[in-house]
Amino acid sequence: MKVTVLGAAGGIGQALSLLLKTQLPAGTDLALFDIAPVTPGVAVDLSHIPTAVSVKGYGQDGLTDALQGADIVLIPAGVPRKPGMDRSDLFNMNAGIIRNLVENIADTCPKALIGIITNPVNTTVAIAAEVLKQKGVYDKNRLFGVTTLDVIRAETFVAELKGKNPAEITVPVIGGHSGTTILPLLSQVEGVEFSQEEVESLTHRIQNAGTEVVEAKAGGGSATLSMGQAAARFCFSLARAIQGEDVIEYAYVENDGGDADYFAQAVRLNKDGVVEILPYGELSAFEEKSKTDMLDGLKKDIQMGVDFVQG
Ligand SMILES: NC(=O)c1ccc[n+]([C@@H]2O[C@H](COP(=O)([O-])OP(=O)(O)OC[C@H]3O[C@@H](n4cnc5c(N)ncnc54)[C@H](O)[C@@H]3O)[C@@H](O)[C@H]2O)c1
Repeated sequence: MKVTVLGAAGGIGQALSLLLKTQLPAGTDLALFDIAPVTPGVAVDLSHIPTAVSVKGYGQDGLTDALQGADIVLIPAGVPRKPGMDRSDLFNMNAGIIRNLVENIADTCPKALIGIITNPVNTTVAIAAEVLKQKGVYDKNRLFGVTTLDVIRAETFVAELKGKNPAEITVPVIGGHSGTTILPLLSQVEGVEFSQEEVESLTHRIQNAGTEVVEAKAGGGSATLSMGQAAARFCFSLARAIQGEDVIEYAYVENDGGDADYFAQAVRLNKDGVVEILPYGELSAFEEKSKTDMLDGLKKDIQMGVDFVQG
């Protein structure tokens, strides 16, 4: 199996690559690409860790080689938020980066499972899909927006509030990956009860957790370490699915006839990507209203991505 990280020298890229080097199955090839000159050095640094995962770094001119034969491509390339910025403020910088990288994926490894981390995810996934369609290689089952960070944050915050072990808490998070489009289904968390006040404050905290980090880093970027962990979890789920396991994971995927053209919810995975989009079940009145209120915004974010490619 070969896993390629595009944007591997950045804050997320380095944290993610470390986790992949230490925890991917033995025999996996890890390819690290970034335009930053430090990239070969990041690969050399990681290559001194004694695991049976090979690491190779690729600079500026190495994109095609990095992608050759890739089964999984993870993309955290792009610019992160600074205080006062919304994820949509990143559109101008990151839309072109995603278009270019995905064009190269289409040409070199069109069958790879692609996980988009670059924000605004609500829009960059639509950009990737349109590029793959233009190239005639789009398969909706192989393209994912990585929303795992919302899931792990929700699990952490619920456990913290209720004095539980986070490893024993599961929180479905559906919708998109920005502000109110992030919708945790607290009514479905097993083994804990919430007051209405707790539901409202927890929902707000989960939706704004990224901003919590951006403000605490005071201009030094956004979530990188927790995102590295989240992306690694997502990658391990894809890797287990490729190896034949039946895996369920949350992700932002094309959802024909669903709430919006792309929507995050639980998906069943196998070696070819999504085999089934699982229903999210019954929502509380609060969740139903939150979903109705955010759908227009999510649909506009998606349309922006479609328009960017279709012109
Ligand atoms: N999906 C999520 O939950 C989530 C969470 C946090 C951050 N993000 C997003 O992830 C992205 C990366 O964040 P970061 O903190 O790692 O930023 P960073 O600035 O630390 O790293 C980004 C890296 O991308 C590289 N890069 C830029 N253009 C490139 C190109 N064309 N090809 C290859 N590499 C390129 C840069 O050289 C840099 O090393 C941002 O868009 C951020 O908003 C997503």
